[in-house]
Amino acid sequence: MVRGEKHEALDIDAGTASVARMYDFLLGGVENYWSDRQACAALLDIAPSAREIAHHNRAFLRRVVKTLVRDYGVEQFLDHGSGLPTQDNVHQVAQRLDPGCRVVYVDNDPIVLAHGRTTLDENANTAIVHADIRDTDDIFGHPATERLIKPGRRTAALFVSVLHCLPDTDDEYDPAAVIRRTAERLGTLGPGNFMVICQLVSDDPEIRHKVTALMDESTRGNWGRVRRRSEVRAYFDGCRTLEPGLVDVIDWRPDTPPPPAEARPTEWVEWGGVARL
Ligand SMILES: C[S@@+](CC[C@H](N)C(=O)[O-])C[C@H]1O[C@@H](n2cnc3c(N)ncnc32)[C@H](O)[C@@H]1O
Repeated sequence: MVRGEKHEALDIDAGTASVARMYDFLLGGVENYWSDRQACAALLDIAPSAREIAHHNRAFLRRVVKTLVRDYGVEQFLDHGSGLPTQDNVHQVAQRLDPGCRVVYVDNDPIVLAHGRTTLDENANTAIVHADIRDTDDIFGHPATERLIKPGRRTAALFVSVLHCLPDTDDEYDPAAVIRRTAERLGTLGPGNFMVICQLVSDDPEIRHKVTALMDESTRGNWGRVRRRSEVRAYFDGCRTLEPGLVDVIDWRPDTPPPPAEARPTEWVEWGGVARL
């Protein structure tokens, strides 16, 4: 972030659980409140693998960023629903391989914004944008995005573990519409850009229903849906995917042997992959 970029007032509601703070708690962080820990306890009752899922998801994010920079020459990232800073944030993984990599983080949670600013203040190649990931025009038109994301440089848009926070709406705010619009905007930057998508899916209708109901209530509506694999597959319609295609993220180019079937979460998984546009 560069000095002078606009800072807005923040309004943190500690009494209502937030996805960002719950995820922080599940990853072992300390940026969470009683409301988040209560909601996580209820979530762990329904889906005891929630912590494991969060760690596997984070490891997937690290591997994807590393692969895209090292093997596909990606220099710019737009990280939609970036979450609270933790270890190995996208810019740290990317800039370790290529110090010139640029990263724009996008999140609508005020606490993510507050911490993001502190973490990013000294890094001119990063910025955090306070926006809803459905507001594609605001994101691409934001001064920080215009400063950092340039046409002609290979770019990846990340939607990692965030689409389950969006409800289906059958209009321009529907997750599929958001993905299509973002892909179109990436296309205006040049050919061969990338889209990374994964979200929570379950084959068990009871898990889908119970988790969705709990999260909807705990976050007072800031939640979407645990979906089916087929629904996530539809987000990739018409796109070529990088090997190994759409998978449980544990199986996306693992750098250590993945756990055997009997040691994996069964109730739900983070599922997705990487599309080349
Ligand atoms: C589970 S965390 C994922 C963080 C990170 N992408 C990762 O995979 O490690 C989801 C994040 O998305 C953010 N989020 C949820 N809905 C959003 C929306 N409509 N617009 C912007 N951010 C959103 C939450 O605030 C949270 O920080």
